[in-house]
Amino acid sequence: MNSLQKTQHIYEVEIGTANYRGQNLLVGIKKHDRFRHVYMIGKTGTGKSTLYENMALQDIAAGRGACFVDPHGEAIERILGQIPRNRIDDVILFDPSQTEAPFGLNLLEWKDENEKDFLVSEAIQIFYKLFDPNQTGIIGPQFEHWMRSAALTVMADPEGGTLLEIPTLFVDQNFLAHKRKFVTDPTVQEFWGKQMAQTADFHKSEMLNYFTSKFGRFASNGVIKNIIGQKKSSFNMGEIINNEKILLVNLSKGKIGELNAHMLGLILMTKLQAAVMQRASLPEQNRLPFYLYVDEFQNLLTDAFISMLSESRKYGLAVHLTNQYIAQLPENMRSAIMGNVGTLLTFQIGAQDARFLAPEMKPIDQNDLQNIPVHYFYARCTIDGTPYDPFLAKGFAPKKFENEPAADSGAENFELANNSEPVGKISGTAADITAADTAASAAANINADTAANTTANIAEIIKILSELRYGNPV
Ligand SMILES: Nc1ncnc2c1ncn2[C@@H]1O[C@H](COP(=O)(O)OP(=O)(O)O)[C@@H](O)[C@H]1O
Ligand SMILES: [Mg+2]
Repeated sequence: MNSLQKTQHIYEVEIGTANYRGQNLLVGIKKHDRFRHVYMIGKTGTGKSTLYENMALQDIAAGRGACFVDPHGEAIERILGQIPRNRIDDVILFDPSQTEAPFGLNLLEWKDENEKDFLVSEAIQIFYKLFDPNQTGIIGPQFEHWMRSAALTVMADPEGGTLLEIPTLFVDQNFLAHKRKFVTDPTVQEFWGKQMAQTADFHKSEMLNYFTSKFGRFASNGVIKNIIGQKKSSFNMGEIINNEKILLVNLSKGKIGELNAHMLGLILMTKLQAAVMQRASLPEQNRLPFYLYVDEFQNLLTDAFISMLSESRKYGLAVHLTNQYIAQLPENMRSAIMGNVGTLLTFQIGAQDARFLAPEMKPIDQNDLQNIPVHYFYARCTIDGTPYDPFLAKGFAPKKFENEPAADSGAENFELANNSEPVGKISGTAADITAADTAASAAANINADTAANTTANIAEIIKILSELRYGNPV
């Protein structure tokens, strides 16, 4: 085995190939570095979704726990078409458009007081994100106060409470009286007994219309009502992450509309975050790794989720985010991402984003970033915690469905323009990442990991990566 071939077993996940002295070299991310997360950016059609699909499929084939959140639905279809037989029973498909036996998804299910407070705060954040993303005052302190008191009221019921019950509290005295019987929190009792009772009717009705209209948006859609109106969620997020299951989330807006799709995404991600934080009670060695991929993430995650990135490593969560423009993201989210991600992958981007990212991608300049050929990307990787200069790589072509005619040969898809002598798995048709192939390489990882961690190998990789930055696709 020559030194280049050795490199392929160092990575837990492969991201593509890079041209190194005329040879195609597999590049990827080591296990440890994955928990510093991946942020990927690029114009539409450059290959972002395909890259995450390929990575997620490697995780799935290797038996890892993973979640893929797809705002369009096509990626989920492709992933579903390639689940290895031995993992089929691990798949949980969340697809709101399948309305025959709708999934239940209740944001307000809680285990302990900490989780209860967290969920109430997040419920408020979700309303900000949906109705007032720029915090212009549409949702304000009064809304928050009503929401917090009402959420705690429905959550006090030992049978559970849902978001859809919240507006009912304000319009149905009997319902409110029934729920208040369970409330032990004096501030919540005071909200109903004093503040609400004393608020003048005209003011109440103005605020009430405003408050309930926000819920009306969900309650009026039959599909959503059936999902978020169920007291018991159909699946337990803790079980998914702690038992290495595969959660595939199809958020295509088709039947449910964009706002509802965003809301479901936000609820799911909040529940995931809550389950991840519950791992604080597990001994560290029992926190099995879990790999989250969120495509077009900007509408699906709250600020709280993003700021958790710095902590999620210790809970064993590796996050992969992507979107099209940095400018889509609020300032605080941008800096949380830039401050936390270990791996930054940039496909071709526009002038504004290039200006913003160039300092992160040095010595690659703005011009380079705007002229990356399609399906190529610059990768600024962290290796064993240390960031290295970016290098140019090419993503793997999407795997074809079995019944889909192959438009072009797999081998060609992988070849770099000036490739002369492919090495290792990249040569010939073996370049396709088949499930078996990846499972085998993942198995090899386990053994190779220790071997690869010798100083000599790491030094070698670093040397190669530093030379790779001069990679040239043409
Ligand atoms: N490395 C690649 N080689 C060949 N085709 C690719 C590659 N990556 C992506 N594609 C194709 O390019 C198109 C756009 O890819 P996609 O991943 O959907 O881009 P994005 O998510 O950035 O919009 C798709 O048709 C996909 O099959
Ligand atoms: Mg995409």
